[in-house]
Amino acid sequence: MTRVRAGILISGRGSNLQALIDASTASDYPAEIVSVVSNVAGVEGLKRAQRAGIPAHVLEHEAYNSRESFDEALHRLLCENRVAIVCLAGFMRILSDSFVEGWRGRLINIHPSLLPAFKGLNVHSRVLQSGSRISGCTVHFVVPELDSGPIIAQAAVPVFPGDGAEALASRILAVEHKLYPLALRLLAEGRVALAGDRVVYRRVQGAAGELLSPQA
Ligand code: GRF
Repeated sequence: MTRVRAGILISGRGSNLQALIDASTASDYPAEIVSVVSNVAGVEGLKRAQRAGIPAHVLEHEAYNSRESFDEALHRLLCENRVAIVCLAGFMRILSDSFVEGWRGRLINIHPSLLPAFKGLNVHSRVLQSGSRISGCTVHFVVPELDSGPIIAQAAVPVFPGDGAEALASRILAVEHKLYPLALRLLAEGRVALAGDRVVYRRVQGAAGELLSPQA
Protein backbone atom coordinates (compact mmCIF):
# COMPACT_ATOMS: atom_id res chain seq x y z
CA MET A 1 0.00 0.00 0.00
CA THR A 2 1.37 3.43 -0.91
CA ARG A 3 0.78 5.72 2.01
CA VAL A 4 0.07 9.40 1.67
CA ARG A 5 2.86 11.57 3.08
CA ALA A 6 1.54 13.84 5.84
CA GLY A 7 3.26 16.76 7.55
CA ILE A 8 2.07 18.00 10.94
CA LEU A 9 2.46 21.60 12.13
CA ILE A 10 2.55 22.19 15.87
CA SER A 11 3.36 24.86 18.43
CA GLY A 12 3.19 23.00 21.73
CA ARG A 13 2.11 19.89 23.58
CA GLY A 14 1.39 17.79 20.49
CA SER A 15 -1.17 15.38 21.91
CA ASN A 16 -3.04 15.40 18.59
CA LEU A 17 0.27 14.80 16.82
CA GLN A 18 0.70 11.79 19.12
CA ALA A 19 -2.75 10.49 18.20
CA LEU A 20 -1.85 10.76 14.50
CA ILE A 21 1.51 9.07 15.06
CA ASP A 22 -0.16 6.25 16.99
CA ALA A 23 -2.83 5.77 14.32
CA SER A 24 -0.21 5.70 11.58
CA THR A 25 1.58 2.76 13.18
CA ALA A 26 -1.30 0.50 12.08
CA SER A 27 -0.32 -1.33 8.91
CA ASP A 28 -3.60 -0.42 7.19
CA TYR A 29 -3.45 3.31 8.01
CA PRO A 30 -3.32 5.19 4.69
CA ALA A 31 -1.06 8.07 5.78
CA GLU A 32 2.47 8.20 7.17
CA ILE A 33 3.78 11.12 9.18
CA VAL A 34 6.96 12.15 7.39
CA SER A 35 7.61 15.57 8.86
CA VAL A 36 6.77 17.57 11.98
CA VAL A 37 7.35 21.32 12.01
CA SER A 38 7.09 23.54 15.08
CA ASN A 39 7.29 27.32 15.08
CA VAL A 40 8.35 27.13 18.75
CA ALA A 41 11.60 25.48 19.93
CA GLY A 42 11.75 22.98 22.78
CA VAL A 43 8.06 22.04 22.88
CA GLU A 44 6.75 18.64 23.94
CA GLY A 45 5.45 17.85 20.46
CA LEU A 46 8.99 17.91 19.05
CA LYS A 47 10.02 15.29 21.60
CA ARG A 48 7.08 13.13 20.57
CA ALA A 49 8.27 13.30 16.95
CA GLN A 50 11.84 12.46 17.94
CA ARG A 51 10.68 9.50 20.03
CA ALA A 52 8.77 8.21 17.00
CA GLY A 53 11.79 8.69 14.73
CA ILE A 54 10.04 11.33 12.61
CA PRO A 55 12.13 14.19 11.22
CA ALA A 56 11.24 17.27 13.28
CA HIS A 57 12.08 20.83 12.31
CA VAL A 58 11.91 24.12 14.16
CA LEU A 59 11.07 27.18 12.09
CA GLU A 60 11.03 30.08 14.50
CA HIS A 61 8.86 32.82 13.09
CA GLU A 62 10.93 35.51 14.86
CA ALA A 63 13.75 34.62 12.48
CA TYR A 64 11.72 35.88 9.51
CA ASN A 65 10.95 39.50 8.75
CA SER A 66 7.45 38.91 7.40
CA ARG A 67 4.61 36.42 7.58
CA GLU A 68 5.10 35.73 3.86
CA SER A 69 8.80 34.89 4.18
CA PHE A 70 8.09 32.51 7.07
CA ASP A 71 5.33 30.86 5.07
CA GLU A 72 7.58 30.54 2.01
CA ALA A 73 10.21 28.77 4.12
CA LEU A 74 7.52 26.51 5.57
CA HIS A 75 6.19 25.73 2.09
CA ARG A 76 9.72 24.89 0.85
CA LEU A 77 10.36 22.62 3.82
CA LEU A 78 7.10 20.73 3.26
CA CYS A 79 7.84 20.37 -0.45
CA GLU A 80 11.40 19.15 0.24
CA ASN A 81 9.89 16.46 2.43
CA ARG A 82 7.40 15.60 -0.34
CA VAL A 83 4.46 16.24 1.97
CA ALA A 84 1.07 15.74 0.29
CA ILE A 85 -1.28 16.60 3.19
CA VAL A 86 -0.67 19.12 5.97
CA CYS A 87 -2.41 18.81 9.35
CA LEU A 88 -2.45 21.74 11.75
CA ALA A 89 -2.38 20.33 15.26
CA GLY A 90 -2.30 23.15 17.79
CA PHE A 91 -0.34 25.34 15.36
CA MET A 92 -0.77 28.79 16.90
CA ARG A 93 0.09 30.92 13.95
CA ILE A 94 -2.01 32.47 11.24
CA LEU A 95 -0.98 31.36 7.76
CA SER A 96 -0.94 33.79 4.85
CA ASP A 97 -3.65 33.60 2.21
CA SER A 98 -1.13 32.52 -0.43
CA PHE A 99 0.09 29.59 1.70
CA VAL A 100 -3.49 28.52 2.41
CA GLU A 101 -4.50 28.80 -1.25
CA GLY A 102 -1.41 26.85 -2.31
CA TRP A 103 -2.42 23.94 -0.06
CA ARG A 104 -6.14 24.20 -0.72
CA GLY A 105 -7.88 20.86 -0.23
CA ARG A 106 -4.75 19.36 1.33
CA LEU A 107 -4.55 21.49 4.50
CA ILE A 108 -6.71 20.58 7.51
CA ASN A 109 -7.10 21.79 11.09
CA ILE A 110 -8.67 20.58 14.31
CA HIS A 111 -10.58 23.07 16.45
CA PRO A 112 -11.99 22.33 19.93
CA SER A 113 -15.59 23.42 19.34
CA LEU A 114 -18.54 22.49 17.20
CA LEU A 115 -17.87 24.99 14.42
CA PRO A 116 -19.19 27.35 13.21
CA ALA A 117 -19.85 28.09 16.90
CA PHE A 118 -16.98 29.37 19.04
CA LYS A 119 -14.26 30.17 16.55
CA GLY A 120 -10.98 31.58 17.82
CA LEU A 121 -9.29 31.33 21.21
CA ASN A 122 -10.50 30.66 24.79
CA VAL A 123 -13.17 28.39 23.38
CA HIS A 124 -14.04 26.39 26.48
CA SER A 125 -14.67 29.31 28.82
CA ARG A 126 -16.88 30.93 26.18
CA VAL A 127 -18.82 27.68 25.75
CA LEU A 128 -19.33 27.47 29.52
CA GLN A 129 -20.41 31.08 29.68
CA SER A 130 -22.92 30.51 26.87
CA GLY A 131 -24.70 27.77 28.80
CA SER A 132 -24.34 25.27 25.93
CA ARG A 133 -25.02 21.71 27.07
CA ILE A 134 -23.09 20.10 24.22
CA SER A 135 -19.70 20.95 22.77
CA GLY A 136 -17.09 19.03 20.83
CA CYS A 137 -14.50 19.34 18.11
CA THR A 138 -14.29 19.85 14.38
CA VAL A 139 -11.82 18.91 11.66
CA HIS A 140 -12.10 21.22 8.68
CA PHE A 141 -10.31 22.24 5.53
CA VAL A 142 -8.34 25.44 6.09
CA VAL A 143 -9.37 28.56 4.20
CA PRO A 144 -7.99 32.08 4.66
CA GLU A 145 -10.71 33.06 7.16
CA LEU A 146 -9.87 31.63 10.59
CA ASP A 147 -11.76 28.47 11.69
CA SER A 148 -14.20 28.89 8.80
CA GLY A 149 -13.33 26.21 6.27
CA PRO A 150 -15.62 23.44 5.05
CA ILE A 151 -16.24 20.88 7.77
CA ILE A 152 -14.95 17.33 7.31
CA ALA A 153 -15.93 15.70 10.62
CA GLN A 154 -17.20 16.54 14.08
CA ALA A 155 -17.54 14.82 17.44
CA ALA A 156 -19.81 15.93 20.29
CA VAL A 157 -19.46 15.62 24.06
CA PRO A 158 -21.77 16.72 26.88
CA VAL A 159 -21.06 19.83 28.94
CA PHE A 160 -21.78 18.91 32.56
CA PRO A 161 -23.16 21.36 35.11
CA GLY A 162 -20.18 22.24 37.29
CA ASP A 163 -17.64 21.78 34.49
CA GLY A 164 -14.67 24.12 34.49
CA ALA A 165 -12.78 24.99 31.33
CA GLU A 166 -10.11 22.40 32.09
CA ALA A 167 -12.53 19.53 32.60
CA LEU A 168 -14.35 20.39 29.40
CA ALA A 169 -11.07 20.78 27.49
CA SER A 170 -9.85 17.36 28.52
CA ARG A 171 -13.20 15.69 27.70
CA ILE A 172 -13.01 17.24 24.24
CA LEU A 173 -9.31 16.45 23.81
CA ALA A 174 -10.04 12.76 24.29
CA VAL A 175 -12.41 12.81 21.30
CA GLU A 176 -10.06 15.02 19.26
CA HIS A 177 -7.62 12.12 19.49
CA LYS A 178 -10.18 9.86 17.81
CA LEU A 179 -11.55 12.37 15.32
CA TYR A 180 -8.29 13.66 13.83
CA PRO A 181 -6.93 10.24 12.83
CA LEU A 182 -10.34 9.40 11.34
CA ALA A 183 -10.44 12.62 9.31
CA LEU A 184 -6.89 12.15 8.03
CA ARG A 185 -7.76 8.58 7.07
CA LEU A 186 -10.80 9.75 5.07
CA LEU A 187 -8.76 12.41 3.27
CA ALA A 188 -5.80 10.12 2.58
CA GLU A 189 -8.12 7.45 1.19
CA GLY A 190 -9.85 9.95 -1.06
CA ARG A 191 -13.16 9.35 0.70
CA VAL A 192 -13.44 13.02 1.51
CA ALA A 193 -12.40 15.88 -0.74
CA LEU A 194 -12.89 19.58 -1.20
CA ALA A 195 -14.94 20.51 -4.26
CA GLY A 196 -15.20 24.27 -4.55
CA ASP A 197 -16.31 25.31 -1.09
CA ARG A 198 -18.13 22.04 -0.32
CA VAL A 199 -16.90 18.77 1.13
CA VAL A 200 -17.79 15.68 -0.89
CA TYR A 201 -17.85 12.19 0.60
CA ARG A 202 -17.55 8.69 -0.79
CA ARG A 203 -18.20 5.48 1.15
CA VAL A 204 -18.66 7.05 4.60
CA GLN A 205 -21.10 6.04 7.30
CA GLY A 206 -23.28 8.15 9.56
CA ALA A 207 -22.87 7.92 13.33
CA ALA A 208 -25.21 5.72 15.33
CA GLY A 209 -27.48 7.23 17.99
CA GLU A 210 -27.69 10.71 19.35
CA LEU A 211 -26.28 12.61 22.29
CA LEU A 212 -28.80 14.09 24.77
CA SER A 213 -27.34 16.33 27.43
CA PRO A 214 -28.32 16.37 30.25
CA GLN A 215 -30.11 13.11 30.77
CA ALA A 216 -32.59 12.25 33.52
C1 GRF B 1 -6.23 21.20 20.63
O1 GRF B 1 -7.28 21.41 21.55
C2 GRF B 1 -6.66 21.60 19.24
O2 GRF B 1 -8.02 21.39 19.00
C3 GRF B 1 -6.35 23.07 19.22
O3 GRF B 1 -5.17 23.21 19.95
C4 GRF B 1 -5.06 22.13 20.88
C5 GRF B 1 -3.75 21.47 20.62
O4 GRF B 1 -3.44 20.49 21.57
N1 GRF B 1 -6.26 23.55 17.87
P1 GRF B 1 -2.24 19.50 21.32
O5 GRF B 1 -0.99 20.36 21.09
O6 GRF B 1 -2.55 18.67 20.12
O7 GRF B 1 -2.12 18.68 22.56
